[in-house]
Amino acid sequence: MDISMEAVIEKSGTPVSLPHVYLEMNRLIDLPDSTLADIAKVAEEDLGLTARILKIVNSPYYGFPSTIDSISRAVAILGTKDLRDLVLTTTTLDIFTKMKFKHDHIQEILRHSLFCAVNARLLAIELHQPQTECFFVAGLMHDIGRLILLQALPESSHMAISEARTTGQDLDSIEQDIFGFTHSDIGNRLAELWHLPENVKEVIAFHHNPGRSRHFPLQTAVVHLADNRANLIDKKSSLVSNPPPVKQEALNVTSLSLERIDELLKTAPDHFKEVNQLFMNSDVAA
Ligand SMILES: [Fe+2]
Ligand SMILES: [Fe+2]
Repeated sequence: MDISMEAVIEKSGTPVSLPHVYLEMNRLIDLPDSTLADIAKVAEEDLGLTARILKIVNSPYYGFPSTIDSISRAVAILGTKDLRDLVLTTTTLDIFTKMKFKHDHIQEILRHSLFCAVNARLLAIELHQPQTECFFVAGLMHDIGRLILLQALPESSHMAISEARTTGQDLDSIEQDIFGFTHSDIGNRLAELWHLPENVKEVIAFHHNPGRSRHFPLQTAVVHLADNRANLIDKKSSLVSNPPPVKQEALNVTSLSLERIDELLKTAPDHFKEVNQLFMNSDVAA
């Protein structure tokens, strides 16, 4: 198929840039002399976003011992990067839930992405990572390329998924044959257009090949494992009958065994229900 990734992104109706509030926060976080107050002020200017962030950080899922009643307090407790990642999560979900889905599979991909995000955060906590939101948001975004492909080219994408299901062949190589690029490639291209953090870009690009991640091998490995387990645990969202096997390098990087991972993720379905209620306007768990 002779179509560029940019043309597919445009055809999908996905915005080619993220809202000002996210871009401005990102810019300030990278500036050495910006203060917590400067960063909080940007988020506070968006009242809808402020309300959503406060609802999220005060939910049982986050489990902070005292009420967080302002963005300034949220940034002081969470730190600037976790707050930025939370803004990214709510902004992205907002974009997707407002889109008119052109294919039923999109709802399933959203559900799968949210499940993967929950798994990734649980694994990050086990690995004592100081910041866990970046794992959640990277999990949420990992298959964004599949969403774009289904939205822009529903028939060919559906064909690719069916072929992967019936033949057991790897989805990436089928996509490569049909489109000339994979969902990881096009997701990575969108991540560039959206100025997503480098770690998220790398996770999107290499979530099926974690060994190729150069700068964020741990996050990429965690999302690779979280993705595989999301497919196995949550059959409702799994579009593949045989998810590709876990890559050994992901287990090596995290020093986790599959038995330990499955033990840790026993609570994932309950966390998923909470997160789904919290983040989604429409109920994808129905
Ligand atoms: Fe994927
Ligand atoms: Fe996935």
